Amino acid sequence: MTRAWVRAALLAATPLWACAQGLDFSPAERRSIGAHGPWPVVAAPDTSNRLERDPAAITLGRRLFFDPALSGNGQIACASCHRPAQAFQDGRSTAIGLGPGVRNTQSVLDLAGQRWFGWDGGSDSLWAASLRPLLNPAEMGSSAAQVAARVRHEPLLAGASDEATLANVAKALAAYQATLVSPRTAFDDFRDALARGDAPAAARYPLAAQRGLQLFVGRGRCGFCHAGPRFSNGEFADIGVPFFVAGGVDAGRHAGLRVLQASPFNRLGPHADDGGAGAVATRHVRQEHRQFGEFKVPTLRGLRQTAPYFHDGSAATLAAVLRHYSDLNEERLHADGERILVPLKLSAQETADLLAFLDTLSP
Ligand code: HEC
Ligand code: HEC
Repeated sequence: MTRAWVRAALLAATPLWACAQGLDFSPAERRSIGAHGPWPVVAAPDTSNRLERDPAAITLGRRLFFDPALSGNGQIACASCHRPAQAFQDGRSTAIGLGPGVRNTQSVLDLAGQRWFGWDGGSDSLWAASLRPLLNPAEMGSSAAQVAARVRHEPLLAGASDEATLANVAKALAAYQATLVSPRTAFDDFRDALARGDAPAAARYPLAAQRGLQLFVGRGRCGFCHAGPRFSNGEFADIGVPFFVAGGVDAGRHAGLRVLQASPFNRLGPHADDGGAGAVATRHVRQEHRQFGEFKVPTLRGLRQTAPYFHDGSAATLAAVLRHYSDLNEERLHADGERILVPLKLSAQETADLLAFLDTLSP
């Protein structure tokens, strides 16, 4: 036997060793995978919030986030629904505050630098999104006057009117939330190893997760919407989750835009600290029929802690989410809906691989 032959025979007989090398990703796949990092991202500052990077405001914002006295009945804090130990959400299908909510509580991790907030994009800044639950009768049921009274001893937050003080409170809350970043994950280590050509480090990433990732950036076309380091393009889409709610429909983005445009706290309004300079998107966004039933593309980081899923909490598990994409009911996508989505008809193996991949996006 020649030595070359022995080596070839050994290679053929050791598929496990071969697997440990990892999948052979194409240059295009490598580019797609690379675009999901590096993590964490350096977010652009929110110019509409002069308090965003102010250490005193961050400290105050943190205190206010845990303060139930801001709510109408004195018992509900932001942290009642956005619980730090549960990736800053509550694990419920739909939120419960002063009334039954209709939507699933979003996490407030990784929000710095995003453009739209809320499942319906009803807010165009982190501070405006922080103000909404204070005034919402179903969540905290408070008022500008009550909030202003609570912070009257804080010179940093004093405004010319109760409304201006309320905006400052929201800006301090946003300053704190902008510091909340989810930890690095096994996926991030793999992505970085692949980017620097470090095969031994890349090979530590489970093979099933590699196959799931290949499906995610390939046939699944998941990365089209779940794009970038946050696994969200920050925009809205209709994936055919039914939007009927008790007494009507949840129109999602279509209704959210009207809320946004009517709000005195949007980036074109008097409370934006940059005089509307950072409001290009808000100025140009238009209401369109296709936005009916569109919801914000959620991040896929930290999913292990954030069940149940979807805007209405209707998917109990990630397996249920994948079944939704696998069996997709195209009738449910409205006529001018997302052409990107097709029923994926996932095999059991493909489902297991995608689950293995999604699992590596949690710390
Ligand atoms: C009763 C539960 C509840 C309370 C209390 C609550 N929230 Fe929320 N939060 C939610 C729900 C539900 C959503 C999704 C809102 C929607 O789209 O309708 C949300 C969404 C958000 C978002 C948008 C996140 C994103 O990804 O777009 C931010 C920011 C936020 N909340 C901050 C706060 C702050 C700050 C407070 C305290 C002032 C607070 N929340 C109090 C339940 C709550
Ligand atoms: C057309 C854009 C689009 C594509 C393509 C897409 N998604 Fe989504 N995804 C969304 C939107 C929008 C939601 C929220 C829908 C809702 O709640 O009504 C969502 C929700 C999810 C959720 C639930 C997250 C949560 O916190 O509630 C998971 C998990 C998910 N998608 C994974 C995937 C996977 C895996 C693929 C590929 C097989 C994929 N998505 C393809 C837009 C998309």
